[in-house]
Amino acid sequence: MSDEIDEIFRRAKEGRALFVDRDALSPEYIPERLPFRDTQMNSVAEVLAPILHESKPSNILLYGKTGTGKTAVARRVLSKLQAEGKKNLVVSYVNTRLANTEYRSLAELGQSTGVQIPFTGLSIGEVVDRIFKEIRAKGIHVILVMDEIDYLVKTFGDGILYEFTRSGDRLAPGFLSLVGISNDLKFKEGLDPRVLSSLSEEELVFPPYTVDELRGILTERAHTAFRSSVASAAAINLCAAMAGSEHGDARRAIDLLRIAGEVAEREGLKEIDDSCIRRASDKMEHDRVEEAIRSLPVQNKAILLAVSKFRGGTNTGELYLAYTNLCRRAGIESLTQRRVSGILAELDLLGLIEASVVSKGRRGRTKRIQLLIGDETLGKTLSEDTTFGKNS
Ligand SMILES: Nc1ncnc2c1ncn2[C@@H]1O[C@H](COP(=O)(O)OP(=O)(O)O)[C@@H](O)[C@H]1O
Ligand SMILES: [Mg+2]
Repeated sequence: MSDEIDEIFRRAKEGRALFVDRDALSPEYIPERLPFRDTQMNSVAEVLAPILHESKPSNILLYGKTGTGKTAVARRVLSKLQAEGKKNLVVSYVNTRLANTEYRSLAELGQSTGVQIPFTGLSIGEVVDRIFKEIRAKGIHVILVMDEIDYLVKTFGDGILYEFTRSGDRLAPGFLSLVGISNDLKFKEGLDPRVLSSLSEEELVFPPYTVDELRGILTERAHTAFRSSVASAAAINLCAAMAGSEHGDARRAIDLLRIAGEVAEREGLKEIDDSCIRRASDKMEHDRVEEAIRSLPVQNKAILLAVSKFRGGTNTGELYLAYTNLCRRAGIESLTQRRVSGILAELDLLGLIEASVVSKGRRGRTKRIQLLIGDETLGKTLSEDTTFGKNS
């Protein structure tokens, strides 16, 4: 028994020796250098530079898929700008998805501009008025970064963007320039044309990274994070290839390398081998599925749960019956068959189920519906939801 404990401790001590600076692989870490993003860094700097001689910079929209370096580039350039030490410059960074509501996004802007916004109680219009008044009174030059702005617009519409992009004279001698960041390439399609033309005075696209570029990025990050010889060139190649071939997403690649390092650490290995990386990748996929389930609306969860009742797959009619029964037991409304079909298509897109159309000969066509994920993962994740806790 005590031998085993000694062994665990010995491994932990050796394992700790793998990382020199684990934070260098954390999602929040922004490295000093951002290889392959010089063009984008310089363009953002050029657009914002006029603020150093008191002119209002154009609004700019950065867009590209997740993990293409948008947030890192914006934050890096802005921290350099702030380091210029201009007195009336306020840089406010809001991630609208994390802030979660229009009100809280505005409250964060309020805080950076020095306006006290109560937790609740004011209308959006009032909050905007207070902030604008302060900007005008103090002649503040604001650069407002709205990260994951697609979330805000998708959830609440483009009302506050409208206010910002039309604020012009109301703020003089102060002003507000927007840096919008969107992960959704189609984000612009849903905007009011006036908001769009103002927000995208300048536009910058962030292309996905190639596998080669990811290899370069990982090599630099690994150099900071690990002791030498922990992450071999072969290990880095495999991480870049596995994370990159599909999405060109640096976040995935970095997560994969970090988790592979943790697996190696736990196993008491001296370096990251292929099997560590494969296990790390499985773990990420597992976590992705859990997260996808967790963030589903309640009706989608109910439908997913109904699908899971049929081990060998089922058809639309049978499923609908199971679903309505389940809703009755859980005490929630059930949707029409048509809505359920729509939700099945969404669950299919997320890779949680497969819903394929099969022909029944002369009797027409039906859908064959099958769960693609483990019962266990589903049961465990749904039991956290009090609506289903007792049924799953
Ligand atoms: N060119 C790069 N060099 C080094 N690290 C990068 C680079 N681009 C992105 N990263 C890192 O990858 C992760 C994701 O980048 P991020 O800027 O958050 O992407 P996005 O905002 O486009 O989703 C972050 O940890 C970031 O530091
Ligand atoms: Mg981002």
